[in-house]
Amino acid sequence: MTFTIAIDGPAAAGKGTLAKKLAAHYGFAYLDTGSLYRAVGVAVQVQGLDPSNETAAIAAARALDATKIDEKAIRTAEAGEAASVVAVMQPVRDAILQFQRDFAKNPPNGSKGAVLDGRDIGTVVCPEAPAKLFVTASPEIRAHRRWLELKGSGSAISEAQVLEETKERDRRDTERATSPLRPAPDAHLLDTSNLSIEAAFGEAVAIIDKSMR
Ligand code: DC
Repeated sequence: MTFTIAIDGPAAAGKGTLAKKLAAHYGFAYLDTGSLYRAVGVAVQVQGLDPSNETAAIAAARALDATKIDEKAIRTAEAGEAASVVAVMQPVRDAILQFQRDFAKNPPNGSKGAVLDGRDIGTVVCPEAPAKLFVTASPEIRAHRRWLELKGSGSAISEAQVLEETKERDRRDTERATSPLRPAPDAHLLDTSNLSIEAAFGEAVAIIDKSMR
């Protein structure tokens, strides 16, 4: 039996950083499930189509090769927007569900466990995961963190616009009918608004260690 750590939460709450540190700490494999939706969104856009084009998004999701994702192309603010648009489509979610479940059950390189982060890992993808965290932070703090990241990679976007987009993304992710963003009933809430990365990591390890006993 492998061990699964499910980490969900809104955009820029610190899930990715935390999930990677946890994977390294426990020697588990890591899957950023947002990258799958981003890759689908970008695949539609490079064809010159709008991400809301369902036919194109579904075809892109079915053709997705998770081992060939262009990391640079999917990390833009536009790719994040496109991801949240294709993510409302049930057939898109269905097309990448099995890949995520297989990753959790049979993590690559013989790892004894996997850390998956996203929006619906604890509720839909791995509802049986023994350790579930719901990582959150205020929209203002999340927007500030994302803005610093974007600025660092050369973007001229304003902080106000990032906040606007963060709120819009939250709305789309939480209000959609299909697998909306919400904590699983047995998830541990971790608000990182006033926590350093190290402090959040410490709290997460304490929670997970307990669930391993
Ligand atoms: O975590 P992220 O910013 O890379 O995610 C991009 C979008 O993908 C997010 O707005 C919603 C969608 N997503 C999802 O619906 N379900 C997941 N498990 C992961 C991401």
